[in-house]
Amino acid sequence: MQEANLALRLVAMESGWLKPFKIKVVEPISLPPPNRRRELLEKAGYNLFNLDAQEIYIDLLTDSGTGAMSQAQWAALMEGDEAYAGSRSFRQFLKTVQEITGMPYVLPTHQGRAAEHVFFSCLLSGGEVIPSNAHFDTTRANIQALGATPVDLPCPEATDPEADFPFKGNMDLAALEALLEREKGRIPCVMLTLTNNTWAGQPVSLANIRAVSELARAHGVPLILDAARHAENAYFIHAREPGQAKRPPREIAREVFSLAAGCLMSAKKDGLGNIGGFIALRSGELYERCRERLILVEGFPTYGGLAGRDLAALAVGLQEALELEYLRDRVGQVEWLARRLREVGIPVYWPPGGHAVYVDAGRLLPHIPREAFPGQALVCALYLAGGIRAVEVGSLMLGQGAKLELVRLAIPRRVYTREHLEWVVDTFCRIKERAAELRGLRLLAGEGPLRHFVARFAPLH
Ligand SMILES: Cc1ncc(COP(=O)(O)O)c(C=O)c1O
Repeated sequence: MQEANLALRLVAMESGWLKPFKIKVVEPISLPPPNRRRELLEKAGYNLFNLDAQEIYIDLLTDSGTGAMSQAQWAALMEGDEAYAGSRSFRQFLKTVQEITGMPYVLPTHQGRAAEHVFFSCLLSGGEVIPSNAHFDTTRANIQALGATPVDLPCPEATDPEADFPFKGNMDLAALEALLEREKGRIPCVMLTLTNNTWAGQPVSLANIRAVSELARAHGVPLILDAARHAENAYFIHAREPGQAKRPPREIAREVFSLAAGCLMSAKKDGLGNIGGFIALRSGELYERCRERLILVEGFPTYGGLAGRDLAALAVGLQEALELEYLRDRVGQVEWLARRLREVGIPVYWPPGGHAVYVDAGRLLPHIPREAFPGQALVCALYLAGGIRAVEVGSLMLGQGAKLELVRLAIPRRVYTREHLEWVVDTFCRIKERAAELRGLRLLAGEGPLRHFVARFAPLH
């Protein structure tokens, strides 16, 4: 009997379902009545970015800055040092980032895109080419705004939403090598996004990171990581890559950072913070240029647009995000939702990534053409049927570059329980029953690479 119980416990641990926390603070939520949801959606121009959060029942818009902080983070927050220069909280933050990344030069920023803006405005003058496994939308927009060209080089497996390949976030090495040769002198850095948010939050293998780093070094080009979800990526390497199971995510992350010359981080993800970001670098010369720019647009280099208490909470959160139990629960919850949706016949991008489940709206709603935004039609249906907010990652967000019409269900960290996610599954079941009746949308307003934030639509009949 005792043995059977032990076996059961180990399985539960393996699949991530021994929750490593309990809930101490709660926030009320409720589902607005169907008529009100319809009215609100119309007023919002069928763009859920325009809805008030209190009108949402389950908010899966993003995992960015929406997580629940731990008691240790709240305690650190109360001890935040708000000195303008040289605060104790900055020292704690600096020490943590240096320890995790092994990079000596660190600049805090108020969020990831500010790190991108500061870094790229010191690196680019126009006409450059920046390859990546896939740039996130703000990274792409920051590069384009400076007159350079972002180039996505995802591995071929990434375009197959069904293939059981464990590291679909990998970069296409042959394509990178060809680009480095062809654009010699025009590539100031190579980027890798860990995990690959644009490609369904898919992880990048350690082997691929090593190979990209080597290729970049051979061409005299620095490798810069977009490290927003580096801890989840390290967990996937631990869980999926042969020979890595015995290494804790922290150690794996340390090796990953050792392969790069610098990183840009939105700490609203794997920093477990509600706000924050940073730039970490090995080059003192580049650091000094970025520091000057940072003072102009963010603030003094020991707070960089953040309050001291934010830095203090991040110093704790960055460490917590690398704990194995935390990561197993986190990635396990995403995997549970993906498996359940698949079981009830919803086409999901497979295997599931680290922070979100990506539903293939193109396959669920094959009667809606790309020009009528099947992903956005599904996003609207989710709100109408279940008060759920999700985001389109397809022709609306990525324009002509979209290969798939996906809808992202991003799971905030430590916020929702399995019961909440069961409601999501239930809502999908109801949508599937009347999928053929759903109609597409006509774009009324919204242009450029960030149009999805501000677009407005009218329903097609
Ligand atoms: C991979 C990646 N990079 C950069 C960013 C930008 O970070 P922020 O939202 O903190 O500006 C995000 C945000 O979602 C992201 O997912």
